[in-house]
Amino acid sequence: MSNNIQFKVQPGGTIKGRIRVPGDKSISHRSIMLGSIAEGTTHVTGFLEGEDSLATLKAFQAMGVEISGPNQGNVTIHGVGLKGLKKPAHPLDMGNSGTAMRLMAGILAGQDFECELIGDASLSKRPMKRVTQPLVEMGAKIDTAEGGKPPLKIQQGQALKAINYRLPMASAQVKSCILLAGLYAKGTTTVIEPAPTRDHTERMLNGFGYPVHSEKLDDMQTKVVLEGGGKLTAKDIDVPSDISSAAFFMVAAAVAKEADLIIEHVGINPTRTGVIDILKLMGADITLENQATVGGEPVADIHIKSSKLKGIKIPESLVPLAIDEFPVLFVAAASAEGQTILSGAEELRVKESDRIQVMADALIAVGIDANPTEDGMIINGGKQKTQSAEIQSHHDHRISMAMTVAGLNADSEITIDDCANVRTSFPSFIELANEVGLNISAIEV
Ligand code: S3P
Repeated sequence: MSNNIQFKVQPGGTIKGRIRVPGDKSISHRSIMLGSIAEGTTHVTGFLEGEDSLATLKAFQAMGVEISGPNQGNVTIHGVGLKGLKKPAHPLDMGNSGTAMRLMAGILAGQDFECELIGDASLSKRPMKRVTQPLVEMGAKIDTAEGGKPPLKIQQGQALKAINYRLPMASAQVKSCILLAGLYAKGTTTVIEPAPTRDHTERMLNGFGYPVHSEKLDDMQTKVVLEGGGKLTAKDIDVPSDISSAAFFMVAAAVAKEADLIIEHVGINPTRTGVIDILKLMGADITLENQATVGGEPVADIHIKSSKLKGIKIPESLVPLAIDEFPVLFVAAASAEGQTILSGAEELRVKESDRIQVMADALIAVGIDANPTEDGMIINGGKQKTQSAEIQSHHDHRISMAMTVAGLNADSEITIDDCANVRTSFPSFIELANEVGLNISAIEV
């Protein structure tokens, strides 16, 4: 397999059909983590066979957990219980995945062996102090590279004590890390989040019979509480399709002419549906059909048609609920009539790439009036003629995929370099994109 892939997108075409996108990345990671530290056998269906969630799977295999699959999304995990993990022979490679590194740090802080977490070039630049600091407060000993960056060397056998921690930023990864460490800590761990973030860890722990109590303190803040020293009991998990992957096709259908698309069985957990709310505020024609609940997570078929989008000021309260969808929402804003303003989204600067700067550069390169700000972007959409350009993804899968959607309404071909990263979250992206009507070729370079 070639190391790198270039996407070439031809403009035109419409978006039609009925598709299913791969399993949710956040839930796939957690299914392996919780299945591994549960007692009993967990069967997972709909598991995302992307590099990120596979990094988590391999890490637990390296710690002695017997895991079979994935085979067409089926994984079987023979849980070893909270105390059954074994010291891995090598550093655990989390690849490109911030979720894997940050959540695993919480689990590993509670083990009686030392362990090192490493990552690729993008992950090695991302901030880890946000997890090491509360873990150190709990009693863990962790060495990092300069500036709190990976690798993380977690020292062996520190007795953890529970903490009461107010998150300095809205982050599900930090919340989950502390809750997972809290399983191993003596006492009651409390996390207060400044704004709602995805709650898959809380839901799945409760599903595994481990009580986690969540309480809304006001419109924005939630307090999450658990007691250390309990046990998880294995539970089968049906992973819904990833709304973050569906988002590329939602925007593609909204901005294409005569489009009509159904995306099946998508997770619509209310902590993830900011992209639907934002697109609706922009005037998108979206409906939810066949709503149901699978394994504690709500799902629906998302039906979306060509829409006349207009620019909006994006409510800041929706930012954490759409945090991974901004690259493609910027593309929606570029097609929308009028001005779109995003603020309160400084977290975008520390994702797989600096998504404010990288998307602004990419949109400007194709001729869009995009203006990056400290914590967001101002896009004057709708009117420009776009131009042919060669875009850099900066090791970021969501930049690669978002810019293919920008190619749909462009006036000429767009080339996107460095797109092998799409395998981290959406290995079948190109096939599905071409199936619904985008016109993309992937070239090995
Ligand atoms: C994730 C949480 C989010 C998100 C990431 C996955 C998770 O990060 O951006 O892709 O699975 O918990 P933050 O919690 O740091 O915002």
